Amino acid sequence: MIEILKTTKEDIFDIVRLEEELLDSSIGSEMLLSELHNKYAHFLTAKLENQVIGYIGCWIIEGECELINFVVDKKHQRQKVGTKLLEKIIEISHENNASKIILEVKKTNLQAIGFYKHHHFYEIGIRKNYYPDGTDALLMRKELM
Ligand SMILES: CC(C)(COP(=O)(O)OP(=O)(O)OC[C@H]1O[C@@H](n2cnc3c(N)ncnc32)[C@H](O)[C@@H]1OP(=O)(O)O)[C@@H](O)C(=O)NCCC(=O)NCCS
Repeated sequence: MIEILKTTKEDIFDIVRLEEELLDSSIGSEMLLSELHNKYAHFLTAKLENQVIGYIGCWIIEGECELINFVVDKKHQRQKVGTKLLEKIIEISHENNASKIILEVKKTNLQAIGFYKHHHFYEIGIRKNYYPDGTDALLMRKELM
């Protein structure tokens, strides 16, 4: 059974590995560790039989939830793990009176954009040459009722 749990320092090694495999880089173990002590940060890990298969992290500040990072292990993608992680972040956002979720995603990351559109995120702008390789970032937003 898939469990969505608060991220702990024991998860960090696996999260960094997942980020390095699936994104161009990781936010790094030191940054992750410091986020676990940040009162505005909410980091969740998806586990299957005690193995880390995904994670999501956000900051909730002044009514706005900003997604920081989000990854699901390749062999567990398209099995609604990402949806479970996002649903939990939505629940936490409601508890913290956030009225929207915002994020940046590489314009070329059609996989993630497909996921976000499925979950009713819409485009609100572009940041030109945002990533180190020169790719633009798409800004997306979802209203929370
Ligand atoms: C984005 C990501 C986290 C989604 O996780 P996931 O567990 O595979 O997503 P789900 O199974 O919950 O998908 C729900 C719906 O989103 C949409 N979706 C998911 N992956 C998609 C893809 N590759 N292409 C198009 N739509 C997609 C589909 O509508 C899907 O429903 P369906 O499978 O019934 O068609 C995952 O693809 C991932 O880790 N990608 C690599 C890392 C990354 O890009 N992170 C985002 C950084 S901004």
